[in-house]
Amino acid sequence: MNQCAMAVLEEYPDIVFSYGYGDEYSFVLKKTSKFYQRRSSKISSVIVSFFTSVYVTKWKEFFPLKELRYPPSFLSQIVCCASLEILQAYLAWRQRDCHVQNQYNTCFWELVKKGGKTEMEAQEILKYAKEQDRNELLHQQFGINYNDTLALLRQGTCIFKTEVEDIVKYNEDGTPVKRLRRKAGIFRSENIAGRRFWNAHASLLKELGNFSEDCFKTNPDYIRSFLFESKLMPSTWIVIRIDGCHFHRFADVHEFNKPNDKQALDLMNLCAVAVLEEFHDIVFCYGVSDEYSFVLKKDSQLYQRRASKIVSAIVSFFSSMYVMKWKDVFWKKELKYPPSFDGRAVCYPSNEILQDYLAWRQVDCHINNQYNTCFWSLVKSGKSKSEAQNYLKGTQACEKNELLLKEFGINYNTLPLMFRQGSSIFRVKRENPTLIENDASSVEKIETKIVTEHCNIIEQSFWEAHPSILN
Ligand code: GTP
Ligand code: MG
Repeated sequence: MNQCAMAVLEEYPDIVFSYGYGDEYSFVLKKTSKFYQRRSSKISSVIVSFFTSVYVTKWKEFFPLKELRYPPSFLSQIVCCASLEILQAYLAWRQRDCHVQNQYNTCFWELVKKGGKTEMEAQEILKYAKEQDRNELLHQQFGINYNDTLALLRQGTCIFKTEVEDIVKYNEDGTPVKRLRRKAGIFRSENIAGRRFWNAHASLLKELGNFSEDCFKTNPDYIRSFLFESKLMPSTWIVIRIDGCHFHRFADVHEFNKPNDKQALDLMNLCAVAVLEEFHDIVFCYGVSDEYSFVLKKDSQLYQRRASKIVSAIVSFFSSMYVMKWKDVFWKKELKYPPSFDGRAVCYPSNEILQDYLAWRQVDCHINNQYNTCFWSLVKSGKSKSEAQNYLKGTQACEKNELLLKEFGINYNTLPLMFRQGSSIFRVKRENPTLIENDASSVEKIETKIVTEHCNIIEQSFWEAHPSILN
């Protein structure tokens, strides 16, 4: 977790402080940040996506002998702290939670592992124990002074950048030439919201300001009131659209075929199928290039329709899957760096408007693909990129098709359907439902299967042929 947070800090310069424990991390962006024009959905989805990708990428480094059995995913949400005092109270709240949870867990596992109690018994013993009682229990029964236990677990971890001196080269006489560089480092303190810790770090004072008073007690409800939690309108289709971040670079670095790389699209499709399997409320997925749209049914109550939870869960799961499945698709290509995706949620009130949305995406697919096919054919034939761009300026669809046919012998309409129409993924009823025996007593009937098709979803006939998708 700490290494992933460190990578996040290196990736996004606007993050100036982070604090984490257990399975959570908080990242503080500077007040003046213009990251993604401060669009909350983009900021939180990109960070959680990158974090997840790094987590899966680094897994083998930390667990060389353990297989990652399924894709981990994380939820994210934004908290806007209107003043430094609120940020201070927020941090005090998170560190307090870290302490309470760790103290409980330390007691619980001592009782189970050394005290010979069952998990139920340990739970019962700790049910009404207060902080002081728990410390006494540890001390008296197990000879443990809680304050001597591992600081990493008791205090959590702060990561932020400080200026460090780096030796860049040596002069002829052997004296080192030093330069100041900002580097992320790990810090710990009993009280991260205290003045002593905070005000002792010049970089925190500079980036965030100083704490004028210590923060002794926080009311979690007060802090929670700053959580940015918008709920999506009831009884509307929810579309979560994710899009690869800077995929022009990602595609170049990984030498994707231009303009379409079948394997890269196959990988996107594999991940989308996994998303559909994981989130039962998703009824339809449509993907093109580095983007995917996931349609959730109108009456979905997933995460009580909280936008940030739904977006982050899907984008994080997708990113996880992308890294996990990379080797299945690109067996000869190494994943050079962790990819990330942004995500957003939009509500569509009627079937017609939802279909208009999907048609818009498919039209976009067609226009981009036709343009890109011409563009890259021209470039491959020896034109420079700007020459190709100028050549195509203002050309109509039929002119582009003519260019492809006459100059390059390409009949646009015979190019693979996946490139021209994108990919639609949905469930269909099985004609012969199979019976799967889970155990001796229960027999599950599998009535649907997931299919990936490359078809025209603009025309009404598709929706008429598959009435169960929207009904
Ligand atoms: P942001 O989404 O704004 O972060 O930038 P982006 O670079 O991801 O651009 P955008 O999402 O608008 O477009 C997707 C880009 O991904 C394309 O412009 C291509 O450069 C690249 N891409 C997607 N699919 C393929 C592919 O199959 N082959 C190649 N070569 N590139 C692809
Ligand atoms: Mg993109």
